[in-house]
Amino acid sequence: GRVAVLYGGWSAEREVSLQSGAEAFAALQRLGVDASLIDATPEQVLGLKAAGFDRVFIALHGRGGEDGTVQAALALQGLPYTGCGVAASALAMSKAQTKRIWRAEKLPTPRSVLLRAGFDPAGVVAELGLPIFVKPASEGSSIGMSKVSRVEDLAAAYAAAAQFDEQVLAEQFIDGLEYTATILDGEVLPLIRVQPQAEFYDYHAKYQAEDTGYHCPCGLPAEQEQRCAALALEAFDAVGGRGWGRVDLFVDQQGQPWLLEVNTVPGLTTHSLVPMAARATGIDFDQLIWRILLTSEE
Ligand code: DAL
Ligand code: MG
Repeated sequence: GRVAVLYGGWSAEREVSLQSGAEAFAALQRLGVDASLIDATPEQVLGLKAAGFDRVFIALHGRGGEDGTVQAALALQGLPYTGCGVAASALAMSKAQTKRIWRAEKLPTPRSVLLRAGFDPAGVVAELGLPIFVKPASEGSSIGMSKVSRVEDLAAAYAAAAQFDEQVLAEQFIDGLEYTATILDGEVLPLIRVQPQAEFYDYHAKYQAEDTGYHCPCGLPAEQEQRCAALALEAFDAVGGRGWGRVDLFVDQQGQPWLLEVNTVPGLTTHSLVPMAARATGIDFDQLIWRILLTSEE
């Protein structure tokens, strides 16, 4: 049948999605799949069934495409689609809600508070210490995010994040190293350690910098990597994840892992982590895209 690859869309991560979608589409073409690349608008999404498509590869990041909205529109048309369903997509889009679920499940995640207009910076610092990560609750690719080292910078960081989301999360800083775990068909691919040269793994470090370090094998002792992988899978299951996704985490100096977030449509760009993890385990990019396409059948 005909596959629609949805990319672009209307979120702040549009540019990233344009790259992810173009890569996925090229792979589907190499695989001989009858596919069309579609820059998603609400009208396009709602008309896919009528346009003769019978399966959808979602390469949209951020709000609209990764948050259950598009998934629900496809479900209403009876169209199978890749990756997570409506509820898991909606839940995982909000880091605040995701962390609530994890806490309820006794899964480790850094302390955090939601900042509201007029919040008391001293109170937040008393609770979380310094530095603090300030981020829109529902964004990706580190958009609107900052690392705050001085209490007097907290208000500006809040304002920057609030441009993208009415919910702003302040999160405790974990002194450790950053890792990511790719989940594909219920299995965890080798972890990658991410080593940004900047203060943190921001948008530039993710997509533009050529000096960001990616380590796979990730350098953790095998037993500890195993523990992190198992935790990532639990974290993905806790939000009701399906098919594929990526769980980001820190491991602190004592070796304790701390869950940050779940990405239900992780990036598929040439700089992205999921293709890297797949390659490390012998799954080339085309095979990866094929496996993701098949997640629409679950
Ligand atoms: N949000 C970006 C696309 C990622 O997680 O890869
Ligand atoms: Mg993300």
